[in-house]
Amino acid sequence: MTNIKKIGVLTSGGDCAGLNAVLMAVVNAATKQGWEVYGIHDGTDGLTNRPMSYEVLTESNFSNSPWPRLAGSYLGSLNTGVKESQEVLAERFGEGVRELDLDAVVVVGGDGSMNIVSNYCKMAGVKMVGIPKTIDNDTPLTEFSVGFNTACQVCTNALDDLMTTARSHHRALILEVMGRDAGHLAMHAALAGFADVCLVPEIPYTLQGIVNKLEDVKKTGRTSALIVVSEGVKTEKGEAVTGAVNMVGEKINGGIGDYLSGLINANYKGFQTRVTKLGHVQRSGNPTAFDRSLAVVLGAEAVNLLAQGHTDRMVALARGQVTSFALDEVVAAGTTGLDANSSYVKAARAIGMYVGEI
Ligand code: F6P
Repeated sequence: MTNIKKIGVLTSGGDCAGLNAVLMAVVNAATKQGWEVYGIHDGTDGLTNRPMSYEVLTESNFSNSPWPRLAGSYLGSLNTGVKESQEVLAERFGEGVRELDLDAVVVVGGDGSMNIVSNYCKMAGVKMVGIPKTIDNDTPLTEFSVGFNTACQVCTNALDDLMTTARSHHRALILEVMGRDAGHLAMHAALAGFADVCLVPEIPYTLQGIVNKLEDVKKTGRTSALIVVSEGVKTEKGEAVTGAVNMVGEKINGGIGDYLSGLINANYKGFQTRVTKLGHVQRSGNPTAFDRSLAVVLGAEAVNLLAQGHTDRMVALARGQVTSFALDEVVAAGTTGLDANSSYVKAARAIGMYVGEI
């Protein structure tokens, strides 16, 4: 069992819908255990910056407010490249945890945060439990991360909206969705939005393959088409397409939709193309029922693990069951992309969607 009296909770990495439902679940379950909960502001920044930034959370922060139903993070989140060395940040993180007298930290994050924050915790001797969240669904060892389902819904709604105007103007409309390294979001949205083409970073494609599919669409008598492309897709030659550069000099993904549009327009006269880059609206929208219930079961399980004396683990959903994995195992597994042989890809091909490779 455990001698925990006080825990910290933080959200780290790109935000998504469902984070506040996780916070509500963690705060309520921890309060039932008789623990105090400190909400750390802006990811690890709240503990590594001086002065530190945090607040005491109680059930009233979430239970009598709309927060659990809203996207974003009540606590704020951190999604910038690391500004200082891991050692310096880990030391300050540890100092912060000790100053606040926290017995453990619950980290709501994606694959990058599980890696970075578990490293800080290891270096600073801090107990941690992780809860997976990301619209990319690429956190390893969990079937679903909080936020993915809502992002799929946002993309599917966009495809429904695009279909009507595509039909009016006899166009092939391209929807560029997020997914820096993984095509889960593009694939699930393409299936749900009945797209004709879906390009993901994990599967090579050819312009000819896209054109062949558009030709096939025309032959059926249909005068419009929908193409979904993940922002992480490269050119046929394997070059990354990027737009702006962030504050720490990293290139930001984006622009593959425009690149493909130009290529298709120059090489095929069957459909005019236009591009919609969905951007950060994919990280918003009220969380779906699935994301809310996933948030609650994972948040409750994180507290349950701590109450049972288990730490350095990430809660997960595997084969429909709530479970957990050692953080070392999670970090070793790395980012989990879309399996090119998955049932989703097979089903897409079976119904005639072009998903690359030929
Ligand atoms: O990691 C999640 C993600 O949504 C990626 O798909 C996307 O490339 C990235 O975040 C965008 O991050 P930012 O908001 O920092 O531009």
